[in-house]
Amino acid sequence: MNIIVTGGAGFIGSNFVFHMLEKHPDYRIICLDKLTYAGNLSTLKSVMDNPNFRFVKLDICDREGVYKLFEEEHPDMVVNFAAESHVDRSIKDPSVFLQTNIIGTSVLMDACREYGIKRYHQVSTDEVYGDLPLDRPDLFFTETTPIHTSSPYSSSKAGADLLVMAYHRTFGLPVTISRCSNNYGPYHFPEKLIPLMIVNCLHDKPLPVYGEGLNVRDWLYVEDHCRAIDLIIHNGTVGEVYNVGGHNEMKNIDIVKLICHELGKPESLITYVQDRKGHDMRYAIDPTKIHNELGWLPETKFADGIKKTISWYLENREWWEEIISGDYQTYYERMYGQS
Ligand code: NAD
Ligand code: TYD
Repeated sequence: MNIIVTGGAGFIGSNFVFHMLEKHPDYRIICLDKLTYAGNLSTLKSVMDNPNFRFVKLDICDREGVYKLFEEEHPDMVVNFAAESHVDRSIKDPSVFLQTNIIGTSVLMDACREYGIKRYHQVSTDEVYGDLPLDRPDLFFTETTPIHTSSPYSSSKAGADLLVMAYHRTFGLPVTISRCSNNYGPYHFPEKLIPLMIVNCLHDKPLPVYGEGLNVRDWLYVEDHCRAIDLIIHNGTVGEVYNVGGHNEMKNIDIVKLICHELGKPESLITYVQDRKGHDMRYAIDPTKIHNELGWLPETKFADGIKKTISWYLENREWWEEIISGDYQTYYERMYGQS
């Protein structure tokens, strides 16, 4: 089995590459990544010499490059993680989100149509459902919840999802979509809530909490997400959407306090800052479908996952210190020129 994994130098994509190489040692994994600010080649160094792994620096919007890769590799499956993924950046500049998340998805699917594919899997997000009110804890996102987006990021992901379903209906492309809640774990880029708070705590820097910190996210350990995608691409039904989430809702402020506590830092580091524009209040996934159809359940409890994650950041300072210092961008310029 040859699988193209796009965005495999990012947070979830890299964890998925590791998962697949370990769980399916006979598969060939081709990682296609543009290495934007969020992609980090050093993340993949443990697998670079694996004969079943190939890294290709490429933009998913580069039609010629993508088609050439399909001609070379004859992939059986494509799993598309490549995306601009940070809501705050999408509020500053939506355009690259539309380009990568929507146009890039269409280029990948056109290549799948041109060269044939057993499965195209789109890694999507629960954010396409918009948000839920804080005073209705009985409500959850199911696969039939209407798409109702808030940010340019979630809109671009929703646009891609609609296109994926359209390629299925119009061209018969064998697609699946997963919509997952917030992930956390190793190799999470330190602009997102959990790694940012860990790194700032370790530097005794202020911990910027948006608004009152009452927004709720449903946190899932990244390995549980990777297992879910592995199950969907092998056993999921073509043309279906699967929600992935662990019934682990937490307020932002409680997460930040927990991180302070775990690292022995004072809560006085917490600084309430201006709220995010259009800030979604609550995300909460109902994972009944993937549980009933594919037998998936999360395995890592938040109390254990957050401890593992904090330990990982303590033991892998070099990884995030390079990112913070910008050294890794210099490294790309040396490796690949200025592109
Ligand atoms: P990330 O920002 O850490 O990684 C994105 C990766 O995509 C990077 O390696 C980047 O270099 C690459 N990339 C960006 N633009 C590209 C392009 N044009 N061509 C090729 N590669 C490109 O993101 P992540 O958090 O790992 O998220 C991965 C996917 O999962 C995204 O599609 C995201 O929408 C989705 N998702 C993320 C979460 C989460 O909590 N992080 C939750 C649900 C879904
Ligand atoms: P984030 O990690 O950006 O994920 P998403 O917006 O996709 O859910 O943010 C998670 C939550 O944490 C979100 O409600 C915004 C909030 N947040 C802060 O309060 N401070 C921060 O510095 C960041 C990055 C996020």
